[in-house]
Parts: sequence; structure tokens; C-alpha cells
Amino acid sequence: MEASKPPSRRILMGEAALAKRPFSSAEIEAEARRLHAKLQAVGYPVEQCRLYAPLTLAINRLKKEKNAVILAHNYQRAEVLFGIADFIGDSLELARKARDTQADIILFCGVKFMAETAKILTPAKKVLIPDMEAGCSLAESISAADVKKLRAAHPEAAVVSYVNTYADVKAESDVCCTSANALKIVEALPNQEIVFLPDNYMARNIQAQTPLGKKIMAWKGLCIVHETFRAEQIAVYRKTYPGIQILAHLECHPDVVKLADYVGGTSGMAKYVAESQAKQFMLVTECGMSDVLRVQFPGKQFIVPCALCPYMKKIHLEKALDVLIREANEITVPEPVRAKAERALQKMFELTS
Ligand code: 13P
Ligand code: SF4
Repeated sequence: MEASKPPSRRILMGEAALAKRPFSSAEIEAEARRLHAKLQAVGYPVEQCRLYAPLTLAINRLKKEKNAVILAHNYQRAEVLFGIADFIGDSLELARKARDTQADIILFCGVKFMAETAKILTPAKKVLIPDMEAGCSLAESISAADVKKLRAAHPEAAVVSYVNTYADVKAESDVCCTSANALKIVEALPNQEIVFLPDNYMARNIQAQTPLGKKIMAWKGLCIVHETFRAEQIAVYRKTYPGIQILAHLECHPDVVKLADYVGGTSGMAKYVAESQAKQFMLVTECGMSDVLRVQFPGKQFIVPCALCPYMKKIHLEKALDVLIREANEITVPEPVRAKAERALQKMFELTS
């Protein structure tokens, strides 16, 4: 993946605050070197790291002053992940971290449903997101009214919601799941019929994986990133790079999944790469994931294709600093909805503990 563009020179609150309490040039240079040591693996020159350094220094200083924690999803920009995040992970790991943190503020560098999940699990904490427009095509594909209709149409079925849903949809569901535990959840439920929402491809992939003969009814949601990958494209890469390991996200089309050596969520991919003796990998998922692994495994090679999630990429350092200064963009969930949604999330933890 190409290095992200350097930050624009727009004047945000963050820059004004920075001007009031500036860092010395020695501090900036040391920070630029720290960033470059990580980010050179994804092609960032040291000059670019010098532009990020005042922002990462300011965010990390504020984080301490406010007892805030920064949770960042694997698809975030590399400078967010390796510049300011306290914890990097998949949806499940981030939800657990949010649930267990001692911090007063959670700055969630990810998309809105993830920040909302954090709020559902820790209602007393202030959960902030750098950009309220960081949505998700899956979460936006279904409403609580749709879930009620599905439930009425399939009264015997358990309703399993992928975490890529908003709180009102979770509140109408029996249990949540993530890409890391979807199969386990479906298999642990006593029901023979499952309404699995909102990801159509994931529902079909789970149907193909489970040997238990359960009937899985799918919704029509799709991830705009993962639906772009094609089986023919994967087959070409397999021929071009003999020995390559192909890892596909569970949100990919079933024909793509059939061609993969590993299928699962983002942290499952990281674990697979860590344990594999192979040198070349193709991660059929959002580009950020390959960047995370390029930094963590400099001796391994990560080959495209990848696709960018426009929602994840809305988050950048300037916005993170601005929101942390103003404690703006706070996530709120009405209590009755939160309490019901929490039940569905707790059920997920129970079934997978
Ligand atoms: P993971 O939980 O596997 O990180 O997936 C989240 C997501 O949004 C994938 O598109
Ligand atoms: Fe949603 Fe797809 Fe982006 Fe993940 S990659 S946040 S599923 S749109």
C-alpha cells in the first residue's frame, strides 16, 4: 500500500493548543525517529514522520493528562496504530479491552459501531470517536424494525447479530458475534434455525463451515470493501506466486473463501502469519491489515490485492487530537437500548468464554 498522505495544514483546535505548549525540536526529532523505526516498513519517509511527530507527542501527552486510552482497529492508518494507539486489535479484542479498561476516557480509532460497542459495555466511561461519520455499509444495511420483522417471520430461530450493527439492532438480537467467533456462536446455540445478520456473505460462509446441519437465514448486507474481491483474481495470484498463503476475511464472497488457506477475522490472520513458516502472504481484506503485519513481521512479504475502507480511513491524527482536547464526538446510547444491547454482547462473551 502507498504511504498515507501527510497531514493537511488545516487549522484545527489541536494545532492551536500545540502552539500554546510546543515541543522542542529535539523532542520532535526523537519522536520522528521513533515513528520512522516502525513506519518505514510501510514506506513512510522520515520527513513524513516529522510532520506527524508534533501530533503524536501532543496526543500522547494529553492521553496521560486525561487518563484516556486509545483503542485502534487493525484497519486504521499506520501513524494512528503505531503513533498513538495503546491497543490494536480486531472487533472482539477491542470490545474486551473497552470492557476492562480503568481509563476514564476511551478514544476509539475505528468505526462508529465499534465505539458504540465500547459505550454499551462501559456506560460510565466517556467514549469519543474522532469522526462521527465513520460508518459501515454492513451496520447501515439493517434497522431494528427489520430485525423485528425477521423475528416475526422466523419465531423458532435465534437472531445472531454480527457486531457490525448499531445498538438498536443489537438490542433486538439474542446474541452478537464477531468474525473471530461467529461459527462458535452459531454452533453453541441450541436452535436449529438461525437468523444471521446483516452480512450475507458471512452467513453463507458460516453455513458452509458448520457441519451441524443448522439452517442459516441471511440478511442482504454486504461490506463494500470485501465484496470487491473476486475468485478469478485470487486464482491468478495463486498461480503467479507459488507457495503464497492466502488469507481471506469471513466477509468475502463464498467463492473467494473457498480458495483461501485461512478464513477468519483480522486478528486470526495476524496469528496465522505469526505461526506460519511461509514468506509470502496475500491478505484478502482491507489494506490496513497488511500494513500492520508489514510493521510486525518485516521479514515477510505481503502482496496485494487489498481495498481501502473509506469509513476507517476517515480517522486521522489531527481529528484524534482535536476530539481529545475538546472531549467532543461523545458516543451516547439511550439506556433502555444500551441495556438490551449489552445482554446480546454478554451472551456472546458467555458462549465463547
Ligand atoms: P474484525 O473483527 O475481523 O477485525 O473485522 C471488523 C471489520 O469491520 C471487518 O471489515
Ligand atoms: Fe464496515 Fe467493511 Fe469498513 Fe469493516 S471494512 S468497517 S465491514 S465497511
